[in-house]
Amino acid sequence: MSTLFEPYTLRSLTIPNRVWMAPMCQYSAGTAGPATGVATDWHFAHYAARATGGTGLILLEATAVSPEGRISPGDLGIWNDDQAAALGRIAAFLKEQGTVPGIQIAHAGRKASTERPWQGGQPLAPAESWQTLAPSPLPFDDGHPLPHQLSTAQIQDVVGQFAAAARRARAAGFEVIEVHGAHGYLINEFLSPHSNHRTDAYGGSFEGRIRLALEVVDAVRAEWPEELPVFFRLSATDWLTENPEDGRQGWTADDTVRLARELRAHGVDLLDVSTGGNAPRAAIPVGPGYQVTFAQRVREETGLPTAAVGLITEARQAEKIVANGQADAVLLGRELLRDPFWARRAAAELGDRATIPPQYAWAV
Ligand code: FNR
Repeated sequence: MSTLFEPYTLRSLTIPNRVWMAPMCQYSAGTAGPATGVATDWHFAHYAARATGGTGLILLEATAVSPEGRISPGDLGIWNDDQAAALGRIAAFLKEQGTVPGIQIAHAGRKASTERPWQGGQPLAPAESWQTLAPSPLPFDDGHPLPHQLSTAQIQDVVGQFAAAARRARAAGFEVIEVHGAHGYLINEFLSPHSNHRTDAYGGSFEGRIRLALEVVDAVRAEWPEELPVFFRLSATDWLTENPEDGRQGWTADDTVRLARELRAHGVDLLDVSTGGNAPRAAIPVGPGYQVTFAQRVREETGLPTAAVGLITEARQAEKIVANGQADAVLLGRELLRDPFWARRAAAELGDRATIPPQYAWAV
């Protein structure tokens, strides 16, 4: 039997295996009037397929807590009840299949207001764009718009939007909520000295830069049931400070370990450990499982459970990560886009079993 297909319990929630789906934007939500940010048939079919494929936990894609927090006009939203109702239909189906329904809630900060990736991913033309928000008035890159620096009162509004999103997500039936603190989006922008040049209580020192993350976690925790887990995704490094040739200073793996201890104390149950995204043209040594060591370090040094993500594609590779205690679970992204039935295939390869819907199981 494998470790990958052992159940995993956090608080009172048992997840049937350690093969989890990473949050992946589909940029396919409604874009006009009351349909704005509302999940479509695409989302239902996409997530349903990975659930019938035996995935233990599905984290729905970055779902915006406010209209201006969307990466593109096609992002999912969870700032109103119609959006939550459409998401609830997906959560219910996942649960019926024995897959734990999770959702990532997000604010894109200064990386908002862009085209869908397949349209180029560039900042939207002025007629369609909206004002982006950030800790400091620093564009993400050349050719990107100048973001508005959030005031203290506006930061409090954002915290309230995350709380309201958590409330709606719970009412919609989700059992895991993940705060998106990675990839150069708003919370990540506050964490990193590369993007946060504030001198007030939300910037400057490490304690100042992590303040928004902790306030969001506290607000989400207050809305989320005691018996259910809260995840936090972060970029363990901006890949700047580690690279002396770069010359730019950023968030580091040491900062991540420090923050992980704080997050744990504030009620986060698992850290989803990614990297990068906050600084254009950072040199990233991409390769199989290239982010796993960061998850391992957090787990070993803080005791906080972790999920590893990034170029995990093979059953034996995933099994090794979990069996060696480098992470408690693996999150698969693109490999699950290629093969919704990856969990079933991996289970067979490891001599184990994943849940198969009776509609299929009786017939094969
Ligand atoms: C992503 N990724 C991502 N990350 C995140 O935190 N929220 C998101 O909504 C998205 N959206 C997204 C869309 C698509 C199409 C891709 C390919 C990726 C990153 C993703 O969760 C994952 O961390 C990376 O894809 C690396 O894992 P894989 O793909 O190598 O398994």
